[in-house]
Parts: sequence; structure tokens; C-alpha cells
Amino acid sequence: MEKILRVGIVGCGNISHSHMAAYRKNKNIEVVACADINHQRAIDYAEAYKIPNAYGSIDEMLEKQTDLDAVSVCTWNNGHYECTMKALKAKKHVLCEKPMAMNAKEAIEMQEEAKKQGKVLQVGFVKRFAKTTRVFQDFAETGTFGDIYLTKAIYTRRVGNPGGWFADKKRSGGGPLIDLGVHVIDLSRYLMGMHKPVSVYGATFNKLGAKNDTKGITRYFARDYDPNGICDVEDSAIALIRFDNGSVLHVETSFTLNLKEGITTLQMFGDKGGAVVEPNLEIYKDINHYMTNITPIVSYDYDVFAEMFGNQINHFYDCCTDENVVCKAPAEDGVVLMKILDAIYESALTGNEVKID
Ligand SMILES: NC(=O)c1ccc[n+]([C@@H]2O[C@H](COP(=O)([O-])OP(=O)(O)OC[C@H]3O[C@@H](n4cnc5c(N)ncnc54)[C@H](O)[C@@H]3O)[C@@H](O)[C@H]2O)c1
Repeated sequence: MEKILRVGIVGCGNISHSHMAAYRKNKNIEVVACADINHQRAIDYAEAYKIPNAYGSIDEMLEKQTDLDAVSVCTWNNGHYECTMKALKAKKHVLCEKPMAMNAKEAIEMQEEAKKQGKVLQVGFVKRFAKTTRVFQDFAETGTFGDIYLTKAIYTRRVGNPGGWFADKKRSGGGPLIDLGVHVIDLSRYLMGMHKPVSVYGATFNKLGAKNDTKGITRYFARDYDPNGICDVEDSAIALIRFDNGSVLHVETSFTLNLKEGITTLQMFGDKGGAVVEPNLEIYKDINHYMTNITPIVSYDYDVFAEMFGNQINHFYDCCTDENVVCKAPAEDGVVLMKILDAIYESALTGNEVKID
């Protein structure tokens, strides 16, 4: 008989709905509790999804809900460390949203605690679970790209600071670099072969602010958006990350930037071929001395976002219920990512290249 996994969700804001939708699709998972520092939000959430228990804090949830096996941490970034540590100490498996923490120091402690408790700590690197990622890997594994020595990752918005806690450095840890950059830096490193980063050179810019008065567009807002709220995070960032095999990742990211339109793309360059991984996979090779473009025929789910979350949460279930399953988005990769982000912010501050241990 399949094992049932009992899950509690902490943080009942926007992204928790994607977790919830994916949990509900897995017949072996029961979401039995939710918690939010905005208790009424947790109560409303529980009512909407017919979750039997709603709490006003992770402490209360862990104390009263002794039957929990696992916790999804969907709080502001500054809650990831606290909630994950508490859940691990209470012997729960954890799926923690990205970024894993506010900095590498916190991330290392979280990784160590998971090891000490013998519990799964999966980081929400959801793009690792996208279909294009799998298809790219299928081609890479058979040598289509050869040695990938350069990647250009772009995740930019023209006007897209979600405001609320996203714009408040104390709660977010930073702006588009830690929010959007984290996705494409991780995915690039994953697809380039998981090499060790050795140094970064980066710059951040605080020139435009959140542009909350922009008219004529719809955009993503934090649950507690306030048009007059603080904005002390960078509005764009650029960095070069060097890996120990000589490969380089160039990353650009923005919440606000005076460009024509926002872009999300990963361009990967190998000595036998190149590719664009997002939004859909295209491959560039020389065949018979002709420059040739190849588009693999792949049926993409109509809702790519839901498909990624479904795959991520099914994998989390497998990791929690079968100790032989190797986690595809483990804490150790979250730690490396946080070291890269710390180094980029330090480089931006000092103007110097920063080495990574
Ligand atoms: N994987 C993705 O593609 C993706 C997309 C969006 C957001 N995220 C991540 O998900 C997290 C939440 O983002 P969001 O957009 O849902 O934010 P949100 O503001 O919509 O919701 C966050 C919720 O967490 C609650 N909260 C904050 N601190 C808490 C704490 N310590 N304990 C309990 N509740 C707490 C808030 O009251 C709020 O209801 C962030 O870390 C963000 O980076 C990931």
C-alpha cells in the first residue's frame, strides 16, 4: 500500500496556491494544516481548500499538529530559515521555497540541521522540474552540445517589482537577483553540469525604484502590496560567474529596467552545439557544413507552471517516502546558490571580483 504523506503549509500567500494545487493532484498526499502570521488568511485558506486545521504561526502548527510528516515553507524569504529549522527540529521533512535563505550562513545551518535530523530538505528549484529541462538533458547526455563553456541567462522585467516584502530588503534579502536571478542561475548551473563556482564579478543598480505609478499594465503583486511601501532593493543586477572547469555564466535580471519588454531565456553554448532552453527548446548545430536550427517536437502541458510544480511535489513525496530516492534539488545546491548570491552582492558593493570557497 502507498504511504500517505501528511503535509502542513506555512505561508498562505500567492505561491502556496501552486503548492496546494500540486499536493491535491497527488492521491497519496493529505494537506492537514496551514499556518500564516496573518491568522485570518490561514483560516480563509483552510476554508477554501477544506484543510481541517489553520494556525497563526509555525510554532502553534508544530505543537498541535503532531501527525505532520512534512512542511512546505512558502513564507517571505526572511521566514525560510526560521520555519525550516523549526520544522526540521520537530522531525518534519521540508520543501522550502527559493531562495533557500537570506544568505549562505543560514543555508549552511539549514543543510546541517537536515542532515542531523535525517530529514529531507528540498529547495524549491522548480525549473529543474520543467519539461524543457528534461528534454535538454536528454540531448546533452548524448553529446549534442559537447562541452558547454558559456551560458547567458536573462530574467528581466521592464516594470515588475511585486512590492510589499519583495521590495523590503529586511524581509527579502534583495531584489531581482535573489528573487528572479536565483531561478536562472540555478537552472544554468544544473544544465551546465553542476560545476563548482570559483569567483564572481557583479553589479547592481538602484536607479529607477519600483515605479508603482506606472499606468496601463497588470502585474504580479505581493499579498500585502502597498503602493506607498518601502523600496530599498536593487532594481537590476548583472554578473559573471566563473566555474572550476573554466565555464562562465553571464546573468542579467531586473524588476525595473528601461527595455522594450521583459525576457526570460537561457542561451547555452557548447563546442558541438548551442541551445535556447527557455521558453521552448531550440538547438543550433553545424550539420554537413550548414548552420542548422532544430526544434524538437515536444508536447508541452498547456500550463507549464502547474506541470513544473506537479513534478516538483511528486518528487518531494518520493524523497519523503523512499529513502533510496536521491533528491534532485537538495539543500547542498541551495547552499552553493546562496554563496553565489552573497558573492554577487559583495562584488556589487566593493566593485571587485569576489572568490568563492
Ligand atoms: N517557485 C516560484 O516560482 C516562486 C514564485 C513566487 C514566489 N516564490 C517564493 O515563495 C515565497 C512566498 O512568495 P509569495 O509570492 O507567495 O508571497 P506572498 O506575500 O504572496 O505570501 C507570503 C505569505 O507568507 C506569510 N508569512 C510571512 N512570514 C511568515 C512566517 N514567518 N510564518 C508564517 N507565515 C508567514 C505572509 O503573511 C503571506 O501570507 C517567497 O520566498 C518567494 O520567493 C516562489
